[in-house]
Amino acid sequence: MSFTLAEARAADAADPLRPLRARFHLPEGLIYLDGNSLGPMPRAAPARLGRVIEEEWGEELIRSWNSRDWIGAPQRIGALIAPLIGAKPNEVIVADSTSVNLFKLLVAAASLTGRKTLLSEAGNFHTDLHIASGVAELLGRDLDIAPRAEVEGRIGPDTALLLLTHVHYKTAERFDMARITARAREAGAITIWDLSHSVGAVPLDLNGAGVELAVGCGYKYLNGGPGAPAFLYVAEHLQERLISPLRGWMGHAEPFAFTDDYRPAAGLDRMLAGTPPILSLVGLECGLEAFEGVTPARLWSKANALFDVFHGLVEQRCPELVCITPRLPEQRGSHISFRHPHAFEICQALIAAEVIGDFRAPDVVRFGLTPLYLGFEDLWQAVDRMAKIMESGSWREPRYAVRGKVT
Ligand SMILES: Cc1ncc(COP(=O)(O)O)c(C=O)c1O
Repeated sequence: MSFTLAEARAADAADPLRPLRARFHLPEGLIYLDGNSLGPMPRAAPARLGRVIEEEWGEELIRSWNSRDWIGAPQRIGALIAPLIGAKPNEVIVADSTSVNLFKLLVAAASLTGRKTLLSEAGNFHTDLHIASGVAELLGRDLDIAPRAEVEGRIGPDTALLLLTHVHYKTAERFDMARITARAREAGAITIWDLSHSVGAVPLDLNGAGVELAVGCGYKYLNGGPGAPAFLYVAEHLQERLISPLRGWMGHAEPFAFTDDYRPAAGLDRMLAGTPPILSLVGLECGLEAFEGVTPARLWSKANALFDVFHGLVEQRCPELVCITPRLPEQRGSHISFRHPHAFEICQALIAAEVIGDFRAPDVVRFGLTPLYLGFEDLWQAVDRMAKIMESGSWREPRYAVRGKVT
């Protein structure tokens, strides 16, 4: 593929989504291809957080729980996520981390059935498997971890729950959500989808696909900030049947009645546990407001154009990197990954050249192609810098082999 710098600039000039870039702070000269791991800062965030800190926390103090509706933040911000995933506003709530939300949903849903097996995919994001193994141990169930190609075939009469990540964190492979959910349902099993690499990236229709349970991250494509709270989704028809194993006061029907007994709140509120982290929630709210006026379908169409350009340029200019992400849009998410025995060093050399992607052990370099703020010239420049690193072999410099605590 030949795609010149001039063509990249022309594509940016013609891109109707280009103005959205101004909604984010992107450091000068840096090409940020890691929005699938930690989204960039929404421009509105510092002033908004500053106001919440100074006026609401500083002046209004505890009165803000009512007067500034701090108490309603989990539901209000959940309702902003709903249109991105094809859910009703009352089916999404923001709380805790993805790991904790998974725990709550796995235990609550497993308790609905006497079936023995929790089924998941080998190579699923490790927190999902770790949480599932803890739940299986706690409840005396079995955890069956099947190779990706065998997962569907393993759904059987013993399957209580199927836990899958919709878009794979490493390869970006995407499961067919509607087909698998229906297959599990026919077999009497409930599917829990981890949407961490899908939400804000690929169009989702949870209601249309008959999805009953899902969780997802706030700090990746939703640009909610480092460690932003996560969300959980429960289809309306299941909400009153689930009881959270973390029976915190915020999930109580009357938290301020201070009663000794536990009575779950109506609807999804029962999935809350402790006091909502207001500053982090406001960060996530700013991230979600940056999606205003743009549909997931528009974003996805640009993401596909970005994918084709990046894939083609890497194939042409860095042929040593082997793409492990499917080409077809319906089979993948919005990031692209390559295998190379020295992926770690290449990733470090790229960071030194102000192109930020990330490394996934043992040998994958991964790039998030995020249409809200990336342009075609960004991708052209990134691959140009990568081609220079590969041609010169500069990634071999010993400093690029030094590993920090977070890789
Ligand atoms: C698929 C998937 N699930 C869960 C997580 C982690 O979620 P949390 O840190 O919110 O528990 C990640 C983080 O990268 C992820 O990729």
